[in-house]
Amino acid sequence: MANVAVVGSQWGDEGKGKLVDWLSERADVVVRFQGGHNAGHTLVIDGKVYKLSLLPSGIVRGGKTSIIGNGVVIDPWALLKEIETLRGQDVTITAENLKIAENATLILPLHGELDALREDATAAVKIGTTRRGIGPAYEDKVARRAIRVSDLADPELLAKKIDTLLAHHNALRRGLGAEEVDGADLLAKLQEIAPKILEFSDIVWRRLDEAKRDRKLVLFEGAQGAMLDNDHGTYPFVTSSNTVAGQAAVGSGVGPGAVSYVLGITKAYTTRVGEGPFPTELFDDIGQGLGERGKEFGVVTGRKRRCGWFDAVMVRQAVKTGGITGIALTKLDVLDGMDELKVCVGYKLGDKVLDYYPSNMADQAEVEPVYETLEGWSDSTFGARSWDDLPATAVKYIRRVEELIEAPIALVSTSPEREDTILVKDPFLD
Ligand code: GDP
Ligand code: IMO
Ligand code: MG
Repeated sequence: MANVAVVGSQWGDEGKGKLVDWLSERADVVVRFQGGHNAGHTLVIDGKVYKLSLLPSGIVRGGKTSIIGNGVVIDPWALLKEIETLRGQDVTITAENLKIAENATLILPLHGELDALREDATAAVKIGTTRRGIGPAYEDKVARRAIRVSDLADPELLAKKIDTLLAHHNALRRGLGAEEVDGADLLAKLQEIAPKILEFSDIVWRRLDEAKRDRKLVLFEGAQGAMLDNDHGTYPFVTSSNTVAGQAAVGSGVGPGAVSYVLGITKAYTTRVGEGPFPTELFDDIGQGLGERGKEFGVVTGRKRRCGWFDAVMVRQAVKTGGITGIALTKLDVLDGMDELKVCVGYKLGDKVLDYYPSNMADQAEVEPVYETLEGWSDSTFGARSWDDLPATAVKYIRRVEELIEAPIALVSTSPEREDTILVKDPFLD
């Protein structure tokens, strides 16, 4: 049996949570390795909806270990609130089944405030962030001034680290016309929640090494998607972490060989939340229809997601840059009842046709999609659980997508419900 990393292959919201939940039936450990509460992963189990941002999607099943790895940025208040909400939905969360890396970075209120101040500054490039402080927290991590989970156990060190952090942030805040942060106040706030967070703190790399020794099955749960990756995405309209499967190792404290199968979660069309280029975006009734049938509203911010045709060039690039072994094609049912479907197979840039998405910001905004038109289907695929239940034209669409992106289909998802999933080729047995 192989360890599987589940990652998004587009701009996030591909259905990672649903697939991680489905796969986690057979996993022992589920690990988040990057991002923070900018993520919003939805699980629907027998009609009951669970929305997770920081907690690994394996938490809803009993008997699994859920790990928040060192690569995640953790807002401790948001985490405690999420734990409380999930407990309210009868999910068991204890120090036994939830482990948080002691070397993970914390998101503080000043990070969210800075995120918002920058987004609101007229001179800045507006990214359309989730305003959760993700970017500023990762900046502090890389700049070596971040507060980490283990610092909460040492009040003296914590006070010193707050001083260093505020020397930087208060200078920035003065420049932005914002009120300075009081160090004593921040220290008190952190001390108040410290025991509640430290309860879950653990040496995660060791825990994962033990899992390897005991031949446990580990599922790595990515957040966001390949086109939001800080290196490979539509920079600067990206998130501040690496979202590709390579990060699964770094962000949890295992070697690169720990991941044997990379499952790229891929929506049967395309969506994006926030600003930035989107070559196949639709501004007409067709785009509107996709948004309505697909209920395309953000889990975290409630923003309307932009919708467009499937972009095979972009997903093929995600397959290459992220080492995707196979894909799970989700939300196929949202395409039901459409006469014809378009798929982007190239980009026009000036007098050239490109078979890749260029990295330059101006070119990314300028490219025009080259489409191939495929026949749609009138029958319903909603809730289909076997390949034989799919209309012939839907199978043709799937097979053409597979060919264009140069990766095989492992799973197909046909509704938000856990069990409405078609297994084509088992990622665990690859
Ligand atoms: P994630 O961030 O990748 O976990 O995805 P989100 O949960 O943000 O967004 C995916 C949305 O589509 C959620 O509301 C899911 O319940 C829903 N969903 C997932 N798979 C399917 C599917 O196959 N069909 C339909 N109609 N909805 C789906
Ligand atoms: P999941 O895991 C979709 C987008 C934001 C914004 C950009 C940067 O649910 O797929 P950030 O707050 O990270 O600095 O925002 O990234 N974004 C997401 N879009 N799904 C997500 O997560 C996202 N997380 C961040 O909308 O455009
Ligand atoms: Mg989401």
